[in-house]
Amino acid sequence: MLKDTSVYLDQILCGDAQQRLKELPDCLADTIVTSPPYYLQRDYQSETQVGREETAREYIDRMVAVLAECRRILKPSGSLWLVLGDKYLDGRLLGMPWRVALALNDSGWILRSDVIWHKPNAMPSAVKNRPTTDHEYVFFLSKSLEYYYDADAIREPHVTFTEHSRMKGGRRHFFQRNGTPEAGKNAGNSNLHDSRWDQAFHPKGRNKRTVWSIPLSKFRDAHFAVFPPSLVETCLLATSPDGGLVLDPFVGSGTTAVVAKQLGRHYIGIDCNEEYCQMARRRLLEILC
Ligand SMILES: C[S@@+](CC[C@H](N)C(=O)[O-])C[C@H]1O[C@@H](n2cnc3c(N)ncnc32)[C@H](O)[C@@H]1O
Repeated sequence: MLKDTSVYLDQILCGDAQQRLKELPDCLADTIVTSPPYYLQRDYQSETQVGREETAREYIDRMVAVLAECRRILKPSGSLWLVLGDKYLDGRLLGMPWRVALALNDSGWILRSDVIWHKPNAMPSAVKNRPTTDHEYVFFLSKSLEYYYDADAIREPHVTFTEHSRMKGGRRHFFQRNGTPEAGKNAGNSNLHDSRWDQAFHPKGRNKRTVWSIPLSKFRDAHFAVFPPSLVETCLLATSPDGGLVLDPFVGSGTTAVVAKQLGRHYIGIDCNEEYCQMARRRLLEILC
C-alpha cells in the first residue's frame, strides 16, 4: 500500500469488487453508498458478477465477504448505506434485504436504520393477488458506535407545526432557558422531555425520517437500476464530511461518484463491467467540463 493516500482518490476501477478492494488501504474512506445487484434480478454480463449465485445462502455469504473488505477500508467513524430490493421466487417473497442486513449485523457491522425508499413512479405491475411493490430498503450500518453523522445537513420540513399551526408560538421557546412546556404546566409529562421539544421546533426542520419518497432516476443511458441523485445526496450529506472520501464498490453508471464530486467529496467507484466503467468516467468528465 502507498503512504500517500491521495493516489487512491477519484478513480473508477474496473474489475471484481472483492479483488479490487484488496488494493485499497485500511481506514481510508468516510462512507460507502452502494446498490449491489439484487439476487437473480439481472444479468450484468460479467463472469465475476454478484447476484447469479445458485442459492440465497451463497449470495448472502458473498455480500458479507465483499462488505467485510469495505469495512476494513472504512475509517472507524465510517458508515455504509446499502440499497437492496427484494425478489419473488416460485411465488414466495425471499426477504433478501433483511437476510443480508442481519447477516451483516452478525458479521460485525452495526445496523443503525432501515430506511424505506418509496418510489412514487415505480413501474406498474400486473399482480392482482398482493399489493404492488413500490419500495426498496436502504440499510444504514456503521463500523463503530461512534460514527460521523450530520443530522442538521439532512433535516426535513416540520409537518406537525407549520406556519399555520396553532402551536407555532412554540418556536419562540426554542433554546430558551425553562422556556419549554415541560418546565411549566406540563412538567412531569414523559412525552415532553427537552430533546423532543427541541426537535419539534428545531429551526432547521425535524430530524430526517425513515421513509424517503424519491422518484426513480431519469438517467437510464443503457444501464439498469440507476440511483436517483437525491438519494445519494442525502446519504453523503449525512455521513461524509466536506472533502471526505465516498466509496461505491458497485458503481454502475457512476451516480455515487458524480454526486460525490458535485458535493465536494472524493470518490472511488468499482464495477466489473467495462462498459459501465466507461459510462461512469464519461459522466464524471461531463461534470468537470
Ligand atoms: C444495481 S447496479 C448499480 C447501479 C448504480 N447505483 C448506478 O447508479 O448506476 C449494480 C452494479 O454492480 C456491478 N457488479 C456486479 N457484480 C460485480 C462485482 N462482482 N464486482 C463489481 N461490480 C459488480 C454491475 O455491473 C452493476 O453495474
